Amino acid sequence: MKYFILFGPPGAGKGTQASAMVEKYNLRHISTGELLRKEIAAGSELGLKAKALIDAGALVPDEIVEGMIESEFKSAKDVAGFLLDGFPRNTAQAEDLDAILAKSGEEVTAVVSLMIPDEMIKERIRHRAAIEGRADDASEETINNRIATYHGKTEPLIGYYKNAVKYHEVDGTGTIDDVREKIFSLMDRF
Ligand code: AP5
Ligand code: MG
Repeated sequence: MKYFILFGPPGAGKGTQASAMVEKYNLRHISTGELLRKEIAAGSELGLKAKALIDAGALVPDEIVEGMIESEFKSAKDVAGFLLDGFPRNTAQAEDLDAILAKSGEEVTAVVSLMIPDEMIKERIRHRAAIEGRADDASEETINNRIATYHGKTEPLIGYYKNAVKYHEVDGTGTIDDVREKIFSLMDRF
């Protein structure tokens, strides 16, 4: 099995690019953000717990997202691998992912990192807010907190995966088509 991580700050284009990637490479898309939003929409206990943290631009507890990831791994059939979007998001999650995969003799295949500057993050999220109506896109304060959470907790993973020689950066600032072509030429190597 292949285990790709689609990495990047909020609004970098992870969700946008994921659909083409899963289709071309026969991968199962696992977006922890989307799974959490489904729990919120369903009004589950887990969703209630996650909502306040998401609305504040903070991370939800590691054990919640890791439980989701493990159950997605177990339920997937007839795929060549997985595309993890928005997970891992801190060093503890990255270490736990390594441990989960090691149990079945597997490892992360590659990290595809979409990079855009902070100003572009804000532009793209403002644009999406008008279209999708995501609660965590609605306030400037939440957006700023998400960016701060990214720099404080998630960005250190770049070093983690560089050390593991799995980190591959793609310039995320071009058009959607340009970025997709760059991602494909990278992924063709794995
Ligand atoms: P999550 O849903 O993962 O949100 P995120 O990481 O903030 O990323 P986004 O979904 O906002 O951006 P994206 O990169 O997918 O961009 P998109 O393709 O939509 O997480 C939400 C929350 O859940 C977190 O804040 C946290 O609280 C919690 N959570 C999730 N995972 C967690 C974890 N592992 N641990 C703990 N907590 C967790 O694009 C954005 C916009 O830009 C769109 O409108 C799109 O059309 C446009 N666009 C995309 N590409 C381009 C382009 N090339 N040119 C122009 N526009 C573009
Ligand atoms: Mg997304």
